[in-house]
Amino acid sequence: MTDRYAVIGNPIAHSKSPEIHMEFARQTDQSLTYERLLAPLDGFVETVEAFRAAGGRGLNVTVPFKEEAFRYATRLTARAEASGAVNTLRFDEQGVLGDNTDGMGLVRDLRANHGIMLYGTRMLLLGAGGAARGVIGSLVGEQPERLVIANRTLSKAQDIADSFGQAIEVMAYDALVTERFDIIINATSASLTAEVPPLPENVYAGARVAYDMVYGAEITPFMARAAQAGCPICLDGLGMLVEQAGESFYLWRNVRPATGPVLALLRASLHA
Ligand code: ATR
Repeated sequence: MTDRYAVIGNPIAHSKSPEIHMEFARQTDQSLTYERLLAPLDGFVETVEAFRAAGGRGLNVTVPFKEEAFRYATRLTARAEASGAVNTLRFDEQGVLGDNTDGMGLVRDLRANHGIMLYGTRMLLLGAGGAARGVIGSLVGEQPERLVIANRTLSKAQDIADSFGQAIEVMAYDALVTERFDIIINATSASLTAEVPPLPENVYAGARVAYDMVYGAEITPFMARAAQAGCPICLDGLGMLVEQAGESFYLWRNVRPATGPVLALLRASLHA
């Protein structure tokens, strides 16, 4: 029987994960299927159990189920444990392994696809929701000189900082006006409503890289703002999507796919 995988979320129709994973499978000669699984908002566990009963071997998990997937897993990788969220489930003889490949995906996109050094840099992470929580451990692991989280609701940023110890500072947006950073990463959901985080203009202007964790056919509002302020390298999160998928694929199949060609295909299809 062909091994079955899927991405589970709500909504799910626009997920690009099936295209990405089927391309990985073709490239690495793996026999598998990968589908989209729409779970009712109150039916995550039931949907997962039905998928497992039908022979499912693993799932990618997306909004809004990453915290539920964290609770559903019977074992967690260290990076999933640290982020409190799971984007990859693997069903095996030992039960349900939960992993989080988002942070590794972000770091690998920055480093490998864009050649950006992270060690010793001054990083600013915008947002303190699930998306920020999912990547922070990997950013800390790169040993930046400084890592600051800014969020409108400071208590949420403080909660994340508290769980990671002294490596992280928390600041309000307007307090950033006298600060300078090398890399700014947007993990807020602002771009989804065509908004930009209320970051002082000079912070954009002083940065070398502005990275938006979301993507679209057009440049995102955050990228546009950063570029307009004079930030020279403005990137979207399409590479992160492909890299986190590559890391999930590796967890399931023990084969590392070449992500570059898949990223190029996906980028082309966005503009088709
Ligand atoms: P996700 O799982 O995508 O991170 P979330 O948990 O709802 O979603 O978190 C959304 C994040 O985006 C939060 O940090 C939110 O800031 P607040 O905690 O202050 O609400 C941030 N956010 C959303 N819209 C924003 C905007 N227009 N400007 C700045 N931050 C915004």
